Amino acid sequence: MSAPRRDSRSPYMEWAKLHAHARYGLAASGVGSLPLSELPVPPEEVLAALEITGEPGYGYPPLIERLAARSGVPTECVVCATGTSMANHLAMAALLDPGDEVLIEQPTYELLVSAARYLGAEVRRFPRRFEDAWSVDPEAVERALTPRTRLVVVTNLHNPTGVRTPDEVLARVAAVAGENDARLLVDEVYLEACFDPAARSAFHLGPNVLTTSSLTKVYGLSGVRCGWVLAPPALAERMRHLDDLYGASAAHPAERLSVLALDHLGPIAERARARLAANRSLLEAFLDARRDLEAVRPEHGTIAFPRFLDGDVEELCRSLRERYDTSVVPGRFFEAPDHFRVGIGAETEVVAEGLRRLGRALDGLAR
Ligand SMILES: Cc1ncc(COP(=O)(O)O)c(C=O)c1O
Repeated sequence: MSAPRRDSRSPYMEWAKLHAHARYGLAASGVGSLPLSELPVPPEEVLAALEITGEPGYGYPPLIERLAARSGVPTECVVCATGTSMANHLAMAALLDPGDEVLIEQPTYELLVSAARYLGAEVRRFPRRFEDAWSVDPEAVERALTPRTRLVVVTNLHNPTGVRTPDEVLARVAAVAGENDARLLVDEVYLEACFDPAARSAFHLGPNVLTTSSLTKVYGLSGVRCGWVLAPPALAERMRHLDDLYGASAAHPAERLSVLALDHLGPIAERARARLAANRSLLEAFLDARRDLEAVRPEHGTIAFPRFLDGDVEELCRSLRERYDTSVVPGRFFEAPDHFRVGIGAETEVVAEGLRRLGRALDGLAR
C-alpha cells in the first residue's frame, strides 16, 4: 500500500522535541514555564475555577470576551485555537486552496512553510537580509507577488531574529498585498514581549490583515495552549467551522485556566519583562565581547540570530551539546546555516552559564 500523499513532517519540530534539550538550554524561543503553583492566584481560586466540561458552542465566551477586549476588536473577530500553531493552520486553511500561492518571508519559522505546503499551496519566498538588519522590504514583497498570490506571511517579532517590523512597514505590505487581492497574515506570537508600551496588533492596520498569537511564548504558559486568530468576521466564521474538523471542542480546563491567566496577566507579564531585561543585558555583554560573531541586536523579545564568522555552525552546535550540555538552534532550520538562534527566556542563571559555555565552545573552535 502506498503512503498517503499528504504525508508531512517538520524536521525542525522533530529536532526541537527530541534533540534540543540540554542543561543550559538556549534553544527554546519562549520564556521558561510558569508552574501552576506560581500562578499569581490563590490555589483555592484555581481549583474553584476549574471544571472539566463546558457548554457546547464555538469557543468559551468568557475567554473570547477577554481576548477581544485586550485586542480592541469585536468578539466576532476572535477565533480561539490550540496555540499559535493551530491558529496559523486555521488561518491558512481558511484562505488557501491547493495550487494557490502563498508568499512567505525567508528566513522564517519553518512550520509556516510546512503547513502551507501541507495544504497544497505553492510557496514563494521574499528575502529578509542580514545586511538590511533583517527588515521587511515592501518593494521586495511587491516584486514577489503574482496574480495567484492569495496570502503574504510574516512573523513579528521575527523568528528567528527577534527583529520588530514597524507598523508603517506592515501597513505598506498590507496595501501592496491588497492591491493584488491578497491578504497579510502576521504571526505575532513574540509581539507580546513588547511591554512598555504593549504593542497593538497589526490586525488594525488594514481590512485584509489577519493575525495570530498566543499566551504560549512570552508568559511561560505554553501548556495552556491559549492561542487565537484575529480576522474579519466572515473569515473568522469560516475558521470556526473548519475547526470542527480538528476537534469538536477545546479542553475546557485549559480554557478556564486561560481566563484566569488573562485576569492576572499583569504579574505574569512582569515576571517575563524583568527576566528578559536581565537576560538581554547578559546577551549584549556576550555579543560585545565576541569578535567571531556578528549579530543584529533586537530590542525586544526572546531570541537573537548571530552569524558565526570563524567556523562551522553544525560543529559548534555539536560541541556545545556534547561537551558543554548547552543547546542553541542551528541556522539550517531557518535556511541560514551560518547563523544560530539563541534564546534568552530561561532563568537568568541558566542563560548566564549557557552563554559562558557558548563562549568556551566558540573559543575551542577558533581557527
Ligand atoms: C513564529 C511562531 N509561531 C508559532 C509558534 C508556535 O506557537 P504555539 O506554541 O503558540 O503553538 C512558534 C513556536 O516556536 C513560533 O516561533
